[in-house]
Amino acid sequence: MTVVPLGLPSVQRPSTPAPATGPLIDTFGRVATDLRVSLTDLCNLRCTYCMPAEGLDWMPRDQKLTPDELTRLLRIGVTRLGITSIRFTGGEPLVVPHLEDVLAATTALQPRPEITLTTNGIGLAQRAAGLRRAGLNRINVSLDTVDPARFAAITRRDRFDDVIAGLHAAKEAGLQPVKVNAVLDPVTGLQDAVALLGFCLENGYQLRIIEQMPLDAGHSWQRDRALSADDILDTLRRHFTLTPDPAPRGSAPAQLWRVHDGTGVVGRVGIIASVSHAFCSTCDRSRLTADGQVRNCLFARDETDLRALLRSGADDDVLEAAWRAAMWAKAAGHGINDPDFVQPDRPMSAIGG
Ligand code: 5AD
Ligand code: SF4
Repeated sequence: MTVVPLGLPSVQRPSTPAPATGPLIDTFGRVATDLRVSLTDLCNLRCTYCMPAEGLDWMPRDQKLTPDELTRLLRIGVTRLGITSIRFTGGEPLVVPHLEDVLAATTALQPRPEITLTTNGIGLAQRAAGLRRAGLNRINVSLDTVDPARFAAITRRDRFDDVIAGLHAAKEAGLQPVKVNAVLDPVTGLQDAVALLGFCLENGYQLRIIEQMPLDAGHSWQRDRALSADDILDTLRRHFTLTPDPAPRGSAPAQLWRVHDGTGVVGRVGIIASVSHAFCSTCDRSRLTADGQVRNCLFARDETDLRALLRSGADDDVLEAAWRAAMWAKAAGHGINDPDFVQPDRPMSAIGG
């Protein structure tokens, strides 16, 4: 096994082949047990940090995995590759009509994986209870501000009330702990963060603030514009008493803080410092796009085309081996902070968060 200091990017292909059995491992010894599945690149919002107002060139329908193709890959992931948790994402997964069917099929896998969803919350008010019945365990709802006018400016859609109703419905349906994912606006974000944390504490949601990453379709991310975890923490500390959460972080991307008031701990807030304090060395994630490509990292420049294999009649052994080889070749880190970093062609909305 080649030893490369974790955190440094390595785009070299491994010289040894991937192990044919055991978990999904890479050459650095990291084991991928968490699968992120993007169900569609479509979305009903147009967040400015994600996609342009006019939308993108969406994936043609025939290039997307059918529910049967997807279910087959999920079965291989769970029964042969040791995947124990599956997060469905988008684009926006709630625009996919067969979402509940996919959840039910995933729930039936043995051993049953933990099933979670990342959504923008639109339509969640009507679907939360059914998602729960189909087997969903937990949910993350994206919300970057609790100011309705700023919400409309960030997402270019006037849907704030739908998201708030979706959050409440998720809690009512027992999809707890409900997490709120926020990517902060460079100008208003610090103010938004304080109000978001107040809102989440009041409603029993767990806020997770994510540093903005260079994954926008317009390739316009600028390091010195994006707020850093340290900026965010400094601001939150001026309004709330925070102490590090003593629970071990494991492979979780969020660093958790306890929030105190005079009476004790009133909640938690997570900060995901993907750029300023990368956590690649403990990454346990593998990704599958809606068009059937395995990506071993959000920032991978290579993909492995499982859809082509599926449609050419490959058996499960071949699909398993291709997935293993894809993960074996995972780089040590995302390389965002390297001078020669190149943003992947595929935008976040077509990879999934
Ligand atoms: N950087 C960080 N997070 C992002 N998301 C979308 N684009 C970016 C980006 N460039 C978040 C969304 C959502 C999750 C899927 O990823 O806000 O919460
Ligand atoms: Fe849609 Fe998510 Fe992109 Fe916003 S960030 S446009 S909700 S895919």
